[in-house]
Amino acid sequence: MVTDRPRVLSGIQPTSGSFHLGNYLGAVRQWVSLQETHDAFYMVVDLHAITVEQDPATLRENTRVSVAQLLGVGLDPERCTLFIQSHVPEHAQLGWVMNCFTGFGEAARMTQFKDKSGKQGADRTTVGLFTYPILQVADILLYQADQVPVGEDQRQHIELTRDLAERFNSRLGQTFTVPNPYILKETAKIFDLQDPTSKMSKSASTPKGLVNLLDEVKTSTKKIKSAVTDTGTVVSYDEQEKAGVSNLLRIHSAISGRSVPELVEHFEGRMYGALKTELAELYAEWVAPIQQRTRSYLDDPAELDRVLARGAEKARAVAGETLATAYDRIGFLAAKR
Ligand code: TRP
Repeated sequence: MVTDRPRVLSGIQPTSGSFHLGNYLGAVRQWVSLQETHDAFYMVVDLHAITVEQDPATLRENTRVSVAQLLGVGLDPERCTLFIQSHVPEHAQLGWVMNCFTGFGEAARMTQFKDKSGKQGADRTTVGLFTYPILQVADILLYQADQVPVGEDQRQHIELTRDLAERFNSRLGQTFTVPNPYILKETAKIFDLQDPTSKMSKSASTPKGLVNLLDEVKTSTKKIKSAVTDTGTVVSYDEQEKAGVSNLLRIHSAISGRSVPELVEHFEGRMYGALKTELAELYAEWVAPIQQRTRSYLDDPAELDRVLARGAEKARAVAGETLATAYDRIGFLAAKR
């Protein structure tokens, strides 16, 4: 597809069976709206997933479920290019090249690596985890992406992408678009229902704080109804004093599309229970069609495979061209057939 629209590219790891509300409201939801205005490329980054140990059957299943969910929440293969990273060999190929343009010290300064490796210890940390950001650089540059929609935690990786693109371009001639981060907005702040001061995350201390989109709806509505709130009664927005209530208001707002002040007015004179009950109902109605669409793709593996084959083909057309240019600039002798 040839278009004048700016190009966006983003990726999500297939490391869990279900997306949670934080993933969805933080990132994936904006992927869905960007496909209307941008030339959008989205991928499930299975190469990145193996930077930590994966069980093969689980990885395969999670990859399939991730794709089905992306389709389930509204990505449309007619409007975007959706693919699996390992289906496009150019990622690993350009990843190697980018490794050779990155300083060791430069890579060692990546804070996400320092955090993760600090927790695991050096012996359990793979070299792949160390070069993870550099593979991400290759992901982005292969598609000449103008913008990269990601959460705040990925800002440093986008900075690295810009640095490496500029370095390559200035040494060897204009080859890569220097991308801009497109940091996703504040509604992204979805916190744990049991610990409303920390981000909703699958590594939460208790599963009760985590709303998984594919869980049975009843399980999730129960979690919403037993969300932690303070001892007050008045529904109002105060991130410090009323972290739990404020989190519920943000979730409500993100799903209903109504502003937080409007919701505060709506709940005037009613207590926390009313907010929880209404949010639980709203969530149940909202998630049902998502689950249904996801299931329909999981029940039709042949259709899912067709979508992925087409996605990989569209992705390779772009990635292949960029890689060929990069190889030529580097001085690799062209392989003649
Ligand atoms: N590192 C990203 C994350 O954890 C995932 C990712 C991999 C990505 N490759 C990408 C995001 C390319 C944007 C562009 O969220």
